[in-house]
Amino acid sequence: MTDRTHASSSDVSDNLENWNDRAEVHAHGGYGDLDAFADDPTALTPVVMKDMAVLRDHLPDHTMQGRRLLHLQCHLGDDTLTWWRLGARDVHGLDFSPAALNHARRLAARAHAPITYVEGDARFASEVMPDKKGFFDLIVTSVGTITWLPDLREWAQSIASLLAPGGIFTIRDIHPLLFALDDDGLTIVQGWFSGTEITYETDQTYTMRQDDGEEERTGGIVGKAEAPGPRITHTTNHN
Ligand SMILES: C[S@@+](CC[C@H](N)C(=O)[O-])C[C@H]1O[C@@H](n2cnc3c(N)ncnc32)[C@H](O)[C@@H]1O
Repeated sequence: MTDRTHASSSDVSDNLENWNDRAEVHAHGGYGDLDAFADDPTALTPVVMKDMAVLRDHLPDHTMQGRRLLHLQCHLGDDTLTWWRLGARDVHGLDFSPAALNHARRLAARAHAPITYVEGDARFASEVMPDKKGFFDLIVTSVGTITWLPDLREWAQSIASLLAPGGIFTIRDIHPLLFALDDDGLTIVQGWFSGTEITYETDQTYTMRQDDGEEERTGGIVGKAEAPGPRITHTTNHN
């Protein structure tokens, strides 16, 4: 039987290949000077600062101190390291790309941050780390994540089962409508509902100011995340 928790032979294997390639481009300049980021204990990423600005009000003491945190689709680990620097503990990062995780582990080691990185498909995270069911106070994923997942039902169930009672899941992502618009930002040229799939090839990545890859995108985010039981307490739009 195929192990669905690892993506190399699954329905997202093309995405995996693409992300392994991108990880190298991003690690070698695309994401700036990562060594300098690791070496500066005060350095934080704008992605996490923006998430934290919203999350803060939902945390019992308005801080990350001591929170057990899982970062899904952690990529090179600069955001994961930021969560640790903000006080999160028992920090875990999960991604399906071994290339991205190599860089994430190197970054954490350089920064002396005890972060655990796990390889696996985000849709099945609770199967990847079964010993962590009911463990995390916080699960986060941000910017350019669920657009890569063909279906969100198992993903949402997985998150629900990894959260501790009263735990918080937070997501910030690009509105799927943006993917349906033409470059002029005014004309709808594609459907944006769940299950719409775009397949394309290019040798660009977004750090070169272009988007690329084989992408499966899903609308109806809120309804799907809610399906297995979590209570949605806050949604907002950003420019
Ligand atoms: C756009 S990056 C996340 C970016 C992150 N916010 C950052 O700024 O670094 C998307 C990440 O999702 C990962 N990914 C895509 N599909 C995945 C899947 N099915 N399971 C786990 N990770 C996946 C990719 O390897 C990549 O590291």
